[in-house]
Amino acid sequence: MRTLRDAADFDEIATQYDATREPLEGSALETIATTLRDWGVRSVLEVGVGTGRVAAPLAALGLEVTGVDASLGMLARARAKKVARLVRGTAYRLPFGDRTFDVGFFVHVLHLLEDPAGAIGEACRVGRLGAVALVRPPGSGPADGTEEWSARRIVLERLRQEGVTLPDRARGGPQARERELLGQFPPQRLAVVSEADVTEPLADQLAMFERRASRWTLRIPPETLAKAVAEARELVGDRTHSYHRVRALALWERPPRGSPSWGDRPHGTAGPGGPGGANGPGVGARVAGRAGPSP
Ligand SMILES: C[S@@+](CC[C@H](N)C(=O)[O-])C[C@H]1O[C@@H](n2cnc3c(N)ncnc32)[C@H](O)[C@@H]1O
Repeated sequence: MRTLRDAADFDEIATQYDATREPLEGSALETIATTLRDWGVRSVLEVGVGTGRVAAPLAALGLEVTGVDASLGMLARARAKKVARLVRGTAYRLPFGDRTFDVGFFVHVLHLLEDPAGAIGEACRVGRLGAVALVRPPGSGPADGTEEWSARRIVLERLRQEGVTLPDRARGGPQARERELLGQFPPQRLAVVSEADVTEPLADQLAMFERRASRWTLRIPPETLAKAVAEARELVGDRTHSYHRVRALALWERPPRGSPSWGDRPHGTAGPGGPGGANGPGVGARVAGRAGPSP
């Protein structure tokens, strides 16, 4: 079963996880908490809570946070951060009754799921208001296939030359997949929670590969991966890339009773009452995030 295999992968990278992921800055976490409260949210089920690096600060900011995750290794890390309520379970069948929480919440999870619509639907079932995800909307971050992604691209290209078969999700990276999902399933609300012009060394992208802290690197022979990373490091040198980084909260409202469930909905529709639109809301849709959802 796919969830179990994913859980085993995350068990393996749990100890490296926090050190190799970009942290969310305090002001973004505060804005996430404020926006959720503005939307009428008090209780949150973080689906794929991982090491609790988001759940713990949100709880400290006054939200009632419960975490669910398939990986025991990741949950152990979250427990060490004193996330109070943690449960093992799968995003596709959450171990909670209907409307137990105000929202089901995803941070860096939807892009890696095989059936994100099923997971959004399940989060809408347990969430009184629906499902929320932290996303990088269209118009934010390095554009796919541009210079900004060169360090990653070089590694992938070298691996391909060595005959390594890469999963589809390795190609565009999490951000491309997130943007695709927003296009397929446009949320009813999108509220920007942080925006900044950032400049980063291209070589920073290599740390995750070097430490084998990305799931898809786990099945690549270590020496093959090390060689590809060393070549990329040599090529990018000390070059940097600059981009506008935007993070936003997307809200998919709980469909009214009797309407089609998430999994049954044609792609590109927002569901009952939603705005729809083939490309999903971009950064400009942030104004829609100011008002609260109808309860
Ligand atoms: C990339 S991590 C994100 C963790 C955390 N939300 C964060 O932002 O730091 C993805 C998490 O989702 C969990 N996960 C993956 N597939 C899952 C599934 N089908 N059901 C439940 N959890 C899952 C993994 O075990 C992992 O902890």
